[in-house]
Amino acid sequence: MKGVVFTEFLDFVGDRYGANAVDDIIDASDLPSGGAYTSVGTYSHAEMVQLCTALAEHTGEPAPELVRDFGTHLSCSFARDHHRFFERSSNFFDFLESIEGHIHVEVRKLYPGAELPSFTTELRTPTQLVMQYRSPRRMGDLAEGLIVGTARRFGVEARVQTTLIDGSDGQAVRFVVDLV
Ligand code: HEM
Repeated sequence: MKGVVFTEFLDFVGDRYGANAVDDIIDASDLPSGGAYTSVGTYSHAEMVQLCTALAEHTGEPAPELVRDFGTHLSCSFARDHHRFFERSSNFFDFLESIEGHIHVEVRKLYPGAELPSFTTELRTPTQLVMQYRSPRRMGDLAEGLIVGTARRFGVEARVQTTLIDGSDGQAVRFVVDLV
């Protein structure tokens, strides 16, 4: 997993819970990297799981909720650092549909070795988009937070209903995204 996700995660923790929380969760996790991340480095996905688990323990909040909130934080960072991806799409659903064929394709060039999920559209109407997420990393909660946060960038409010696809153990998730 790319270092930019880790540096953003620690920023999110610091902004919301303070610098001591960052130190505490790094100390509580047994991280091969020691928690010293650079945005261009690559680290084990297992470290992200450890950090999220430690944050859930530290705050008493459920890990899925924290990961969703982190996704919303990440959408702001992406919009700030990669605004051209956002300017390219004239509306929110076009943007979501461009993750697979454009955004993550470009991300692979910017961050060689990036491990990215796949998205397929099942249905689109003017007010609803149904997408399937697939990834062995099971980060559907992160995707949900990114979707909700990105909607705001396009000046709309999205409600996302998430269903785990049977037998996939979180590796395949269906998102029903409604504009409200
Ligand atoms: C709503 C829009 C987006 C969604 C739902 C989304 C979803 C995701 C998810 C869920 C992951 C975690 C990896 C996995 O699940 O396998 C990921 C990784 C990543 N995404 Fe996206 N993404 C979005 C937009 C973007 C944008 C605009 C950028 C711009 C740079 C970006 C860059 C990345 C990077 C750098 C990673 C880390 C790859 C790695 O760790 O190796 N994504 N994305």
